[in-house]
Amino acid sequence: MVRNICCIGAGYVGGPSMAVIADKCLDIEVNVVDIDLKRAELWNSEDLANLPVYEPGLDSVIERCRGRNLFFSTNIAKNIEKADIIFISVNTPTKNNGVGAGQASDLKWIEECARQIAKYASGHTIIVEKSTVPVRTAQTIKTILEYHIDDLSENIPKTFSVLSNPEFLAEGSAINDLNFPDRVLIGGDEKESIEVLARIYEKWVDPSKIIRTKIWSSELSKLTANAFLAQRISSINSIAALCEKTEADIVEVVEAIGSDKRIGKNFLLSGPGFGGSCFQKDLLNLIYIAKSYGLTQVADYWQAVLDLNNWQKNRISELIVKNLFGTVSGKKIAIFGFAFKANTNDTRQSPSILICNNLITEGAKLFIYDPKVAELNISNELNSDEQKTINNNGCWIKSNDPLDACLNADAIIFLTPWDEFKSFPFNKIYKLMRKPAWIFDARNCIDIELVREIGFNVWRIGS
Ligand code: UDX
Ligand code: ADP
Repeated sequence: MVRNICCIGAGYVGGPSMAVIADKCLDIEVNVVDIDLKRAELWNSEDLANLPVYEPGLDSVIERCRGRNLFFSTNIAKNIEKADIIFISVNTPTKNNGVGAGQASDLKWIEECARQIAKYASGHTIIVEKSTVPVRTAQTIKTILEYHIDDLSENIPKTFSVLSNPEFLAEGSAINDLNFPDRVLIGGDEKESIEVLARIYEKWVDPSKIIRTKIWSSELSKLTANAFLAQRISSINSIAALCEKTEADIVEVVEAIGSDKRIGKNFLLSGPGFGGSCFQKDLLNLIYIAKSYGLTQVADYWQAVLDLNNWQKNRISELIVKNLFGTVSGKKIAIFGFAFKANTNDTRQSPSILICNNLITEGAKLFIYDPKVAELNISNELNSDEQKTINNNGCWIKSNDPLDACLNADAIIFLTPWDEFKSFPFNKIYKLMRKPAWIFDARNCIDIELVREIGFNVWRIGS
């Protein structure tokens, strides 16, 4: 019987997924722990608009559960000791140096968790990999834990069971994805532990949606799902570029191909390229694994998905410069949207980063407006050491007022499809701008006919 869950890592995965477990399982105490004190404090903040993760609907789940059976803290040792199940939801970014730099995932945080669990756990503990990890990571965790099996904690020997239960939530729709998942995947070697975890999900998920596999299949399925999704975006973005050359229209092409059930309509929105913490990292990881098994062609195949994504981002900044008479030096440009997608405050790997950096390098003055992204996040992404060495008067400031961002600007660039952009007062905005006034809609997110009638010069992705 599970009475106590601990989740290590209070980020975009750990926070929302544990909040929903606490919401659905009143009989279980859920403790989410993090090494980052500031983050834990923000999760405990009275002001629900200030949670470290912005997700529609998350605030009301937190309000219901926090202090009842959901707790956030930095008290790692105590909460590991109490737990029947420990979820590992720490970050696994791409390695920056050493063997596999630029491709392999850095597992040092996972290893650190395994060591802490080995040290502080008591009795029998089920350990669940929630973070996306390279296939065979469970072996690393098991190897570390094996050295501690039968250590005594208050005279009771420690035993462990390791499961893989990858999270498939997409940011921006996390609460809905967690409440109504397409499937829950549990990989493991020990049937009994798998069933303990399955029983938790069965409190709100139809049992037919719970898939049980070997642990390695579960790990590889997560990487594969993300690789397939990323591949769809690169595929459609490649066709969008072709549409722009041939007078075909990507919206019509998607409508036409999406009606084929085998292809489907979902996940075919062309844009400035995919971002987020998963796709690039997981593709790189898949490429690295394929290479390490000597599967060069497999690695090259997935590398092409990534290459096209980078090409797409550069292509967009280049065409902006070209349309603005070949130079943006000293020009004011409004950037609308910095998050990697709508309905999140996450900026990791956002296509806006490279596009903005390219424009700053060209000397543009960017006024960046995003309804949820904090200035600090933008500055962490844009103020790289490399960028600081470029002395061309290019710069950016965060704007809190979209009208102010447009005053005397030459262009507006839509990079994140926030809903509120649709209802902006484009008549008024047009009057504020320097002429010719341009709109570059890289997300197909506003009414192009309307702004064209007002007088804007318009470029839209895939048309
Ligand atoms: C993804 C997977 O969807 C999720 O299942 C997995 O667990 C984690 O990685 P996430 O990165 O949160 O989720 O967002 P997702 O909705 O997949 O979008 C990723 C990127 O692709 C975003 O930059 C988004 O704007 C872009 N995208 C998505 C498109 O350009 N077009 C689309 O049609 C869909
Ligand atoms: P994700 O999107 O995978 O959730 P995040 O970076 O948002 O990634 O969250 C991961 C969290 O894990 C961060 O808040 C980080 O501080 C935390 N973390 C990393 N290593 C440890 C550790 N050893 N113990 C506790 N928390 C950790």
